Amino acid sequence: MAENIAVIRGDGVGAEVIDATLVVLDKISQKHNIDFKYTDVVAGGAAIDRFGNPLPDESLETLLKSDAILLGALGGPKWDSAPVRPEQALLAIRKNLNLYANLRPAKLYPSLNGICPVKNADGTDLIIVRELTGGIYYGKRGMTRMNTGLTAFDTESYGELEIERITRVAYELAQKRKKHLTSVDKANILQSSALWRKVVHEINGDYPDVTVDDLYVDNAAMQLIKQPQKFDVIVTSNMFGDILSDEASVLAGSMGLLPSASLNDTTLGLYEPVHGSAPDIAGLDVVNPSAAILSAAMMLRYSFAEYDAADSIENAVEKTLNTYRTADVQQNSKTTVKCSEFAKIVADNI
Ligand code: IPM
Ligand code: MN
Repeated sequence: MAENIAVIRGDGVGAEVIDATLVVLDKISQKHNIDFKYTDVVAGGAAIDRFGNPLPDESLETLLKSDAILLGALGGPKWDSAPVRPEQALLAIRKNLNLYANLRPAKLYPSLNGICPVKNADGTDLIIVRELTGGIYYGKRGMTRMNTGLTAFDTESYGELEIERITRVAYELAQKRKKHLTSVDKANILQSSALWRKVVHEINGDYPDVTVDDLYVDNAAMQLIKQPQKFDVIVTSNMFGDILSDEASVLAGSMGLLPSASLNDTTLGLYEPVHGSAPDIAGLDVVNPSAAILSAAMMLRYSFAEYDAADSIENAVEKTLNTYRTADVQQNSKTTVKCSEFAKIVADNI
């Protein structure tokens, strides 16, 4: 039986990184005897242009029926003044599919030490578990006229059950890694963070083999750069996770290397690079497809339980980077290749 993959190429470099990823998945299909069936789904800016809606009903229906979703990138300055932004599609997909657990690993490969702008980051290997369907992204918001003039507000709010389920995902991941969990909050200021901290520690009783510590988000932002090796699994809210995962991407050497998985309690997940649509380089075949290719590896692991296939993609990407580089991670001693060439070499290395 074929695995049904919904494919959202999206905007900007999205199509290029997805095409590169499908080259690699074709090779996986042959080598590991897995059948993939792809269905194109329109969302984001492309869907605004065609239907005036970033996530048409038909697109959402296809996503709900699929076994996994691969997404390139959404958004771009072209839609800055559109009545609705392309990013809304992503927020709607996350909410409709209840994709509350966002995993964002950041690993510095030894061969990339030289290009990492952070000194002494060697050995960095962490994963951010970001809550993805709650908090300020989905809280009560509004705009009213007050004596301060036109006044806008957004609300951060978390329920115990929301905190509990994301925390369990993080503890379970930590059990499979170095058994060290860092919970990031702002409990000295925010009520929602105080509750977050309380729940994280209550749940620790169920995972006694995991050591948990807390960091305020400002301190966490500093420690990530100062001593990234101190981190194993980080669990945090939607907003803090958004910010810290961009910061963590610097530790890996390039935004072009960071994959992500967005999961719910079923095996249907969404897999996408952490980077955006990069309109400035779209269509030039120079984008780094590693993040998208590594996202496909996460898909094999979390949606299809194809662990060997996932490992073989990750090993092939690392091996390819030892010799070949796209422009963003270029080094004198390495051969510079285009996005499409990089994908073919990764496939050859599988
Ligand atoms: C991300 C992005 C999204 C987010 C945007 C595009 C809505 O920055 O996935 O990190 O803020 O969650
Ligand atoms: Mn982000």
